[in-house]
Amino acid sequence: MKGTFVTFEGCEGVGKSRQIKLLEDYLKNNNIKYYLTREPGGTPVSEQIRNVILDGKNVSMTDECEALLYAAARVQLLKEVVAPKLANGELVLCDRYVDSSLAYQGYARGLGVEFIEKINDFAIKNFMPDYTIFLNLTPEEAFKRKGGVDKTDRVELSGAEFHNKVYGGYLDLAKKYPERFIVIDASGEKEQTHAKVISALKEKGVL
Ligand code: TYD
Repeated sequence: MKGTFVTFEGCEGVGKSRQIKLLEDYLKNNNIKYYLTREPGGTPVSEQIRNVILDGKNVSMTDECEALLYAAARVQLLKEVVAPKLANGELVLCDRYVDSSLAYQGYARGLGVEFIEKINDFAIKNFMPDYTIFLNLTPEEAFKRKGGVDKTDRVELSGAEFHNKVYGGYLDLAKKYPERFIVIDASGEKEQTHAKVISALKEKGVL
């Protein structure tokens, strides 16, 4: 039996971590078994790659190098953790996946969707999530809610124009993959957003 693979996407500060935590509480309270991981990271090798990518000191990192490092961290996580667990019939939740690379590196850094698709086809061979929950909130709203930018994080320091492009990229992806994308309005209170996530996952038969 094949399990279910659900990923979470959104711009910085949309409350993604908080929503994942609320979903975890729900799953625990309902005795639903799951495995939660994150990108970049989720394995010892991928976590080391994460440290290199997100290190604010690595200002000389090229966009191409960054995109390839994300894909490298991804394939390690996929082979070591995600694919075996899905083969075992488990529910696997992942905080970000290839859509982040498409939105951040493809659209926002300007490498183009085709380049990102190509390197990720090579890395993950069309291994896509069953469903992708996109927490829909504009970067402007998100940073307001978060109380500003984390100055030690290389990605968060990228500026408003960059984050608006990320957001536009996600909206395009949601349009392009309507069967897979579950767009959740994340502008309300966290409990309201959580209720929307649960009802969407129930509707899709995941819960
Ligand atoms: P993280 O601190 O986990 O941020 P968040 O809580 O917003 O998920 O850092 C992950 C950062 O990496 C985030 O800014 C998005 C970025 N990212 C990419 O640019 N491309 C990718 O493929 C992935 C997986 C993440």
